[in-house]
Amino acid sequence: MKSVIMDVDTGVDDALAIAYACRSEELQLLGFTTCFGNVPVELATVNTLYILELLGSDAPVIPGAEKPLLRTDPHPYSYHVHGENGLGNAAAPAPRRKAQRKYAPDFIWEQVCQHPHEVTLIMVGPLTNLALAIQKEPKIVDLVERVIVMGGAVQVPGNVTPVAEANIYADPEAADLVFRSGIPLTLVGLDVTMQTLLPLRHLDHWRAQNTSVSRFFADMTEFYIQAYKGFYPGIGGCALHDPLAVGAAICPGFVTEVPMHVRVETEGSSKGQTIALPDQAPNIQVCVGVDEKSFLEHFLKRVV
Ligand code: BDR
Ligand code: CA
Repeated sequence: MKSVIMDVDTGVDDALAIAYACRSEELQLLGFTTCFGNVPVELATVNTLYILELLGSDAPVIPGAEKPLLRTDPHPYSYHVHGENGLGNAAAPAPRRKAQRKYAPDFIWEQVCQHPHEVTLIMVGPLTNLALAIQKEPKIVDLVERVIVMGGAVQVPGNVTPVAEANIYADPEAADLVFRSGIPLTLVGLDVTMQTLLPLRHLDHWRAQNTSVSRFFADMTEFYIQAYKGFYPGIGGCALHDPLAVGAAICPGFVTEVPMHVRVETEGSSKGQTIALPDQAPNIQVCVGVDEKSFLEHFLKRVV
């Protein structure tokens, strides 16, 4: 079993990733840390608590960064993609459970110290919490087992600007710090996640299952798929960005990784771009291929 902390900005595909993780016995979930990103951090925390309650999980939830490391310009939340409530506007009553009274970067450090060389961090929002943890406790870099990051676009266009992916764009200085830190990191970017699509027709299957979870997931995901249709006409589904990062933790064979040197641009119109520099020594592993059929089958068997 892998000990895992998931860092989320919940978000529809984050919710799908949380469900996938909760339904995967290969993962021991030490906790979920939250970050601003798709929605403000307070809402990401409430949404994470709600999804875990719906799934019957009592894994701890720990709130984290409410803003980027350095930037003070207003962050563009993604309500148009994830709905006003971040969960596709599906009816989500207030969760009964409360978040822990701790700060995400401290929780990450504490858990890594308790389980040295054992913790896999699955980061599916901006990298702010991890950057803060590294700033405070640089030794963390040698003590984590691995970091799997959903973010970036090395060989394909971006999704928030022509060159930048949303999680990296949200806090490029945090991503830059993490990429330069030497932490063992696998990047699951748009290069592969745009190939893993959940088809609209699958929602009928969830509706037919008619459980509280399957109905909620169908309603939530329908909003996300409609948003995708607007951005990518003819796509017929939505990208399983964050779930693929979980898939890579459960079964590394789903993805093909190559070592690369990747730099994060922090300025100007290329802000948030992840650029591969072939002449420099590799600093991370980048996923360049995905067995989308095996991944999708695995994901759909477990969710919901
Ligand atoms: C990433 O950005 C967020 O909108 C999604 O939840 C995912 O983590 C995709 O670019
Ligand atoms: Ca996310």
